[in-house]
Amino acid sequence: MEKDKASPKRNDTEKLTKQVSFSDEIIEIPIPVVDQIEQSSADITNEWKASKKRIEPAAAKNAEPSSKPGEKVQEEKEATPSTEEKVAQSLDSLNAIDIMWKKFQNDFDKAIGGLVGSIGKSMGSPQLVIEDPESVNEQDRLEVLNGNPTLEQISMGLKSGRYKNVVVMTGAGMSTAAGIPDFRSPDKGLYTTLKKSYPELNRPEDIFDLSYYKETPEPFCKLCRELDLCGVGNANYKPTKAHYLSLLLAKKKILRRTYTQNIDGLDLVTGLPQELLVEAHGGGRSASCVECGEAQDVEQVRKVINEKGIPRCAKCSGICKPDITFFGEELPKRFAELKEDDFCECDLLIVMGTSLQVVPFCHLVADVGRLIPRLVINLSEIRDELFLFKHEKNYRDVFEKSTCDAGVQRLVDLCGWKSSFAKLTKSNVEKSPRLKRKKKTKK
Ligand code: OAD
Repeated sequence: MEKDKASPKRNDTEKLTKQVSFSDEIIEIPIPVVDQIEQSSADITNEWKASKKRIEPAAAKNAEPSSKPGEKVQEEKEATPSTEEKVAQSLDSLNAIDIMWKKFQNDFDKAIGGLVGSIGKSMGSPQLVIEDPESVNEQDRLEVLNGNPTLEQISMGLKSGRYKNVVVMTGAGMSTAAGIPDFRSPDKGLYTTLKKSYPELNRPEDIFDLSYYKETPEPFCKLCRELDLCGVGNANYKPTKAHYLSLLLAKKKILRRTYTQNIDGLDLVTGLPQELLVEAHGGGRSASCVECGEAQDVEQVRKVINEKGIPRCAKCSGICKPDITFFGEELPKRFAELKEDDFCECDLLIVMGTSLQVVPFCHLVADVGRLIPRLVINLSEIRDELFLFKHEKNYRDVFEKSTCDAGVQRLVDLCGWKSSFAKLTKSNVEKSPRLKRKKKTKK
């Protein structure tokens, strides 16, 4: 925020992101990240200039004739360093540049890891307007969570039946306990590990880039095999405890809808009715040709991928893939059809296991009313500008910094729903349709 005060030219919407064009794709990068890169570049330039200056004055002085013989000796001593001194100076400068360059690379890597990618060509990327709590009447603010934004307050509202249209938003952090890595966690996140397994990727996000896939489908197909992303259910992984929160809320008839960015298919494996789920980034339950759009037999596509082949369309021989939304593709229609009403009707928003780095999904958190409480359960902190956690007048945002499983368990316990929740999660015995199928064929 300090930065914004210092740059009066920036208006409210410009505060948040800067659009940067990589080839033909517009990607939004948060201003601090852009500033960080720009700062690093500036540092390098300055260091470069400084190092040049350290060498140049000596050379310049050397070129200047002096009229005083006594001083000349002195000057020459300063102005004409010995060859060893010159080499040492140059090495110093090169070292400094090298250090700065490494720093820049590190900062750039961090920045890339924190890219706000834009999934969904047609959705555009509406700019966020930073929320000002003081624009809400004080009495109204007090009524949201009794002036005490805590998990306890939210659980009291749930217990008392105050919330009837709960919307849940989830991301990859929901499935890490099942053994599926998330994307952006610094050590184990896919975007870090992919860099090692596929050094040929220009940037790790390319694995979900449509034009890259058309040219180089192997990395995605390998990932698909490893995480079993293609087909109904998931044969390799089971839902986590946190996945069952949506089912519990559905059983209590207070779940308006769960919006997930996840493509692992685990939400439905819990038994959550399909109409209560929006897979915002698509999923592997269906597949189609990326050239002609022809729907494919998903199990056939899966078979080819599992046999290390590249699935081809019977109609046009184009490459096929599961209907996971890639960068450069449109989001599923269902997302656009349902989000407006769902977020308008939402009376409690629960966000779990997502860094909220990808638009338009991350902007949904601003689509609920100003008097609606928002609970975030996440291991790491989330972009400040999306919530009021750090605002002294925060009246509606609760941050539960924990794993999704632990946070959900705590919420459920506070609501007094421990035993009904335990029943649901206990029934989680080989829930995946494919696991079941595998078991049957074994008999
Ligand atoms: P990210 O990897 O960006 O964020 C996952 C978040 O979950 C991070 O903030 C982690 O700290 C947190 N986390 C990890 N394990 C957790 C746990 N057990 N409990 C609680 N929090 C945990 O993943 P997403 O936000 O889902 O696109 O990423 C969004 C999209 O970016 C994905 O849908 C994907 C990617 O490009 C596609 O798949 C097309």
